[in-house]
Amino acid sequence: MNIVLLGAPGAGKGTQAQKLIEDYRLTHISTGDLLRQAIKAGTPLGLQAQSYMDSGNLVPDELVVGLLKERLAQSDAQHGFVLDGFPRNTAQAEILDASLAEMGYTLDAALLVDVDHEVIIKRLSNRRACKTCGYTATAEVISCPRCSGEMYQRSDDTPESITQRLAVYTEQTSPLIEYYRTQGKLKSVDGDRPVDEVYAEIKVLLGL
Ligand code: AP5
Repeated sequence: MNIVLLGAPGAGKGTQAQKLIEDYRLTHISTGDLLRQAIKAGTPLGLQAQSYMDSGNLVPDELVVGLLKERLAQSDAQHGFVLDGFPRNTAQAEILDASLAEMGYTLDAALLVDVDHEVIIKRLSNRRACKTCGYTATAEVISCPRCSGEMYQRSDDTPESITQRLAVYTEQTSPLIEYYRTQGKLKSVDGDRPVDEVYAEIKVLLGL
């Protein structure tokens, strides 16, 4: 199964992706994680991307698309993937459609995790991630339950950046809801419920 996760920053895309990949052995492809890895490794692409990410803006398509295509071409994507954070605008969605067709992949669904922006601001202010494996949790979690790594607060989870990310989502990413509805691929879940309740409905929607 190949799916795209849609939803505002902080809607819970990464949280639900973690559960899907653990239960169904899918490959998690997060462009945000790929960009953060590039920053950590100090690559030229990472250096270019950092200021866009910290300010809550999208990294230019020409930087992100290459990363995505490279990751999709790796062999583990053949067993099914969960795309998290890509596409972010209509141009990226069209590039994705063309790339998947070229590689012989079919997109089964675009799953929207739908959450009000007020809830999101609280969630992102309280989010922590594992420095080692990227596991996502809340500030109450002191060490990573998956690998015991150190938890940290992302540099873009500041009030200014969160506000900008939500504005960018509304303007550039939310039109993708209609894009995938037109393709007959859109499925939507109310993400403002406990994680396991959201996950249970996702499984029903995806026929898992
Ligand atoms: P990215 O890393 O993709 O971040 P994002 O879209 O802003 O999304 P998040 O990872 O912040 O949120 P999420 O929906 O995964 O929520 P999570 O599960 O963590 O992108 C970062 C930046 O990279 C972008 O701003 C951009 O600059 C750049 N970028 C990335 N991709 C790009 C692209 N394609 N093109 C251009 N630029 C790109 O959950 C959030 C919190 O809520 C956690 O603490 C979690 O524990 C909690 N939580 C989750 N679900 C629930 C629930 N049901 N109830 C209560 N709490 C919950």
